[in-house]
Formats: sequence, C-alpha cells, structure tokens
Amino acid sequence: MDFSAADVTRVLDLAQAVKRNPGAYTTRLAGKSIAMIFAKQSTRTRVSFEVGIHQLGGQALSLSTSGGTGMQMGRGETVEDTAKVMSRFVHAIVIRTFGQDQIDGLAQYGSIPIINALTDMYHPCQALADLLTVREKLGTTAGKKLVYVGAANNVSNSLMLAGPRSGMDVVVACPDSLRPNPAVLERAQADAKAAGTQVGVDTDPMRAVKGADVIYTDTWVSMGEEEQAKALIAKLHGFTVNRAMMEATGRDALFMHCLPAHRGEEVEAEVMDGKWSVVFDEAENRLHAQKAVLLLLLGGESWS
Ligand code: CP
Repeated sequence: MDFSAADVTRVLDLAQAVKRNPGAYTTRLAGKSIAMIFAKQSTRTRVSFEVGIHQLGGQALSLSTSGGTGMQMGRGETVEDTAKVMSRFVHAIVIRTFGQDQIDGLAQYGSIPIINALTDMYHPCQALADLLTVREKLGTTAGKKLVYVGAANNVSNSLMLAGPRSGMDVVVACPDSLRPNPAVLERAQADAKAAGTQVGVDTDPMRAVKGADVIYTDTWVSMGEEEQAKALIAKLHGFTVNRAMMEATGRDALFMHCLPAHRGEEVEAEVMDGKWSVVFDEAENRLHAQKAVLLLLLGGESWS
C-alpha cells in the first residue's frame, strides 16, 4: 500500500536489471547493516533476503524474538523502544511477525525503512516477486487475470492490492466462510476502480478460473492456524488446483504458488510439477525483487 503503481513498475524494472546483471550492484549497500527479525519460520524469505543483502555488499543481522539469543521484544520490550533503539544501529529492518500492528509500530516510531517479510495480514515481498514472474512469463502484467484459489489469507490480500498497481485483475476463489478480510477487499476494490482493473471474490472456483492467465494457490493452513487444520481442510474440499481447473481456464495458464506446497491438498502433484508450473522461478524471483526493494529504500538506486 506504500507503493504506487509507478513505484511498483520501478521495482519490477530494477529487479529485472539486477537479475540480468547482478555484478553491477555488488557494492551498492556497502557500509549498510540490515536487521532481519523473524518471529515465524521461513525458508525463502529469510534466505533470499540474507543472500540478497550479501550480494549487494551489505551486512545482514539474523535475529529472532524467542529463545536464549532472541531480542528483548520477545520478553516484552515495547515496539516503540525497539524501533527507536534499532534506528540508531541499523539502516533498515526486515521483519516477519504475527500482528501487522508490530510492523506499523516500528514504522511509526523508527526512522528507518521497515520491510514487511510477512504478517498475518500481508505478504508484500511475495506479491512483488509474483508480479515479476508474471511479467517475465507473460511479457506484461497489464490486462492479465490472476485467480487465487483457496483460503483467503495474507498472500491473497497482498495479491489483491498488487493487482491494481500492476494493471492486473485479481479474483479470490474461496469458500464463503474463508473470504478475504473485508477492509482489505474494500481498499483493493477502491484501488482497482481508480486504476481501471477488477478485484473480486467468487465462491465457485471452476467459474472463477475461466479466462485466467494465472492460477495461484497457497497452503490451506497458514502459520499460527495449526489447531484449525482439520476444519480448514474440510471447508476447502473442491478447491484443490488440479488438471481440470487448469484446463478450465481455456488458455495456457501459469500455475503459481508462494510455497511451501502440500501436494494432494491445495494442489495436485500433476499440476505442481507439471507443464503449467512456474513455482521455482517464482521462488527465485524473491531474491531479485527484494534486492530491488533494498536498493530503492536504502539509496542504492533512485526511484526515478
Ligand atoms: N513464500 C514464503 O514466504 O516462503 P517462506 O515462508 O519459506 O519464507
């Protein structure tokens, strides 16, 4: 939401430039230290940020909020005090946590860029990598239709917001009981109206995917929802992405997934590992998109 459509275009243009010629950017973050705070598990986000910072010549500090080596935040130090202290030491914070309020608080009280590496509400770095992947595979995001199939969550929230900023239509195909957060949907639909794109919700996945250029899904059980796993899986019967769904698009649609995947739940192995799937290129693009974000936020490149 902090990025305009022009900002998103700039991030994607730079991400493609960085991907094509990584050697041109190896000292752009020299002398810069970036704190990476992870309160939840991660493979892609953590590794791609740490490697990306290294490739740009910066220093990544890998931190957690729990355990004997965790930050005092995990013992109750306030977000306000943490933000003020960290702003004296590092040039940016990358944080994965539960509540969006934690990130908003760090941004409010700190004086450095705060990068959302996933909260319960949003996953914007994933969405930027997804847009980069669509652009690479389909030539453009403009005029394309992405259908997210499954339980509405932080990933679908960020995709709904990314759509209007990239000229892409986004439909969330989900059971009625697992619809998107109403406030996020309202904001995304207002943005879409202004941008001349569409953001919608459909409870019939086979109807929703007609004409789709991309079918996207995510795990049915997000981090922190493990106790509800059985109920969620029952509600999502009929929402598994399979061959019939890919063929119902009526075109050579892409299959995307932010990963980790659960074959046989949200996606059949035949699709996940089949001709439609671009999931590992999508995962790689986390690195390039995030390097672009870091360069722009930390002055290694200009926004214009
Ligand atoms: N897609 C994603 O965020 O992966 P990780 O949870 O492994 O970081």
